Amino acid sequence: MIRTDHGGLRCSFCLLTTRPGETAIDDPERVVSICADCLASCEALVASDPEQALPRPMQLKARLDRHVIGQERAKKQLAVAVYNHYKRSSLSNSDLELGKSNVLLIGPTGTGKTHLVRSLARLLDVPLHIGDATALTEAGYVGEDVESLLAGLLRAADDDLVRAQRGILYVDEIDKLAGRSGSSAHDGRDVGGEGVQQALLRLIEGSEVEVRIEGQGSKARKVTFDTSGVLVICGGAFVGLRELVERRLATRAMGFRSHQRANGPEPDPLFRVLPADLHQYGLIPEFTGRLPVLATLESLDEQALVAILTEPKGALVRQYQRLFRMDGLRLQFTAGALRAVARECLGEGTGARGLRAALERVLLEPMFDLPGRDDVEDVWITEGTVSGGLPAELRLRSETG
Ligand SMILES: Nc1ncnc2c1ncn2[C@@H]1O[C@H](COP(=O)(O)OP(=O)(O)O)[C@@H](O)[C@H]1O
Ligand SMILES: [Mg+2]
Repeated sequence: MIRTDHGGLRCSFCLLTTRPGETAIDDPERVVSICADCLASCEALVASDPEQALPRPMQLKARLDRHVIGQERAKKQLAVAVYNHYKRSSLSNSDLELGKSNVLLIGPTGTGKTHLVRSLARLLDVPLHIGDATALTEAGYVGEDVESLLAGLLRAADDDLVRAQRGILYVDEIDKLAGRSGSSAHDGRDVGGEGVQQALLRLIEGSEVEVRIEGQGSKARKVTFDTSGVLVICGGAFVGLRELVERRLATRAMGFRSHQRANGPEPDPLFRVLPADLHQYGLIPEFTGRLPVLATLESLDEQALVAILTEPKGALVRQYQRLFRMDGLRLQFTAGALRAVARECLGEGTGARGLRAALERVLLEPMFDLPGRDDVEDVWITEGTVSGGLPAELRLRSETG
């Protein structure tokens, strides 16, 4: 416990100094104290009214910012959708039925769709199940049926049905369900996709679904799963969708060229996607109609990739620095080295996915050579190490004198 010279105490939680008399609780042993603000936050957290503990959209977005780089609009949309979703479930007894704010995430591979959903579930402390739409089939066919997604969510909630019913279900690769039908010119798959979309409707719109749970020793049991409190997020890369949006915008904008934005680069047309475009892509209207929040994630540029390497709480560079630290080594990257890693990754077109493999490659030699060498203090990765195959630069302990 730190007592400041003007008689205030330092709150053990926010570490801010309180003025004399302002401390809410100060234990007699002088081990911990808590200020009035922190006490109020704790009370809100444990309050029985779940709405009180629900972070506001702005707080949620600020917390997401610590984990997810860029994608500002998508983070805002998710924060609002989540806020409305959990507010809505706390109103279950009222006679006003609020529609579910299920979300569709649209964006190229490796732009952070799954990462965003994972971060969100962790921040909210709700169970999350990630399923793949391509693995699903209509009931009666060989393969997983859509109820298996709910079984997955129940597993993620350690079999706690109440918790599972307030969880998040992420269905990836939803674009692969787009059928050939309609005016869509792109090459989807045939019959299966539309049937799975139909089957998914029941989960998405909120209803009671019988779920078969495989138990130990072939004993299966049935659980009635109420999906009205489950936040469903679908995601996909939707290759070719941009062109459909562009074509629609071009038809509308004919003769109105002067209204185009004069300054700055044109925003990605995918930010202006409408349900009609998704319908044309091959999703059935009933399905798109139940995903009212359309959030687009943009491709990551060099600067964003460098930020992803270094900034988030669990950033890759920090992870490797930690590993090196355990061998008594200080791992450092020059700014040029980080940019070179990002550029290498950009060339692959897999967003941030290639970053880890790129770092593994760059760090292989030092990770092989250096453990056990206690004369080395600093390991510098330079641009030459990344793109020129030069060895990492070492600074020995004696040199630091
Ligand atoms: N915007 C981002 N901010 C922080 N990390 C990101 C971001 N985008 C991708 N990543 C990193 O790249 C990895 C792959 O991204 P992922 O979420 O799987 O992409 P997607 O689901 O869009 O294909 C993630 O695990 C995460 O570490
Ligand atoms: Mg993904």
